[in-house]
Amino acid sequence: MPLRSVIAGCGGCLPAQVVTNEELAARHGLDTSDAWIRERSGITRRHLAGPGETAASMGAEAARRALARAGIAPEEVDAVIVATATPDSAFPATAVHIQRLLGVTRGFGFDVSAACTGFIYALAIADAMLRTGQARCALVIGTEVYSRILDWKDRGTCVLFGDGAGAVVLRAEEREDGRGILSTHLHADGRHADILHVEGTTGPLRMAGREVFKHAVMKLAAVVDEALAANGLARDAVDWLVPHQANIRIIEAMGRKLGLPPERVVVTVDRHANTSAASVPLALAEAVEDGRIRQGDLVLLEAIGGGLTWGAALLRF
Ligand code: ACO
Repeated sequence: MPLRSVIAGCGGCLPAQVVTNEELAARHGLDTSDAWIRERSGITRRHLAGPGETAASMGAEAARRALARAGIAPEEVDAVIVATATPDSAFPATAVHIQRLLGVTRGFGFDVSAACTGFIYALAIADAMLRTGQARCALVIGTEVYSRILDWKDRGTCVLFGDGAGAVVLRAEEREDGRGILSTHLHADGRHADILHVEGTTGPLRMAGREVFKHAVMKLAAVVDEALAANGLARDAVDWLVPHQANIRIIEAMGRKLGLPPERVVVTVDRHANTSAASVPLALAEAVEDGRIRQGDLVLLEAIGGGLTWGAALLRF
């Protein structure tokens, strides 16, 4: 029987503080408007971390919720893989801080850096490790505190991001029902490193938005086709698109490309803004929690971010 990585549970965590577009503009004296931000990005508000909320604390809370949904105890976890571009310290890794907060003492833990594509990268690594027997039960987490690396005077970037964390519990299971991760597809092209980057280790973040937008539409369309072709599946086989939440216009373009009605595309960017590596697992957790995504559904995840990095994962939930 084939060994598959199956999502046993999902969870999300958002900071308590919610900041609307108007509040953000007033707080930082920005020359912008709610109408501009909504129209260009689809964002209406975001959650921003308070003093006690860190990449590790939010990641641990998202993981706790994912474990609870899966009915799995922290003692069973033998791998913690964390995607983050905003770790609380250079080392130890956010993964071991989360291990400690959860009481996980077995196996291994490390962080992955691939900006907004980080969760797809982390999922691909976890899947490969589970299927080759290096672990049995992995926590794959995306957690970000972009509010700490933004230039609050740069209206072209600071209005676009939010903080939060999402997690999945991935378990190696021998299955014949087709459930599990079917394939993952990773890409990077360092020639475009400058169009979206963080200066030094503490920021601020810099982005040539229009350039990134153009790459996003082309590269995401290509990687989605790559994932479907690798599995011999047509576009109409996809039940749910769970895209990276950077901009509603990019998300809608991807939905149209797949021929999916809007209600089959999971959207959180309006309420969360861009939470980078946390955006895909947060959106997945929301759609599983409210009953939209059900066992057996074919789910397509995709993301693009700094690097440029981009990728997709196709799974039967
Ligand atoms: N309020 C008002 N005006 C603004 C604002 C603002 N907040 N920000 C920029 N503008 C102005 C610009 O100065 C520019 O003015 P000009 O024409 O006088 O020069 C004008 O609005 C248009 O700016 P553009 O950047 O061309 O606007 P665009 O329609 O491209 O929207 C946006 C900008 C939302 C950033 C868009 O390009 C985008 O979403 N890009 C992709 C972002 C993305 O996908 N990132 C992915 C990953 S993120 C990661 O990895 C960390």
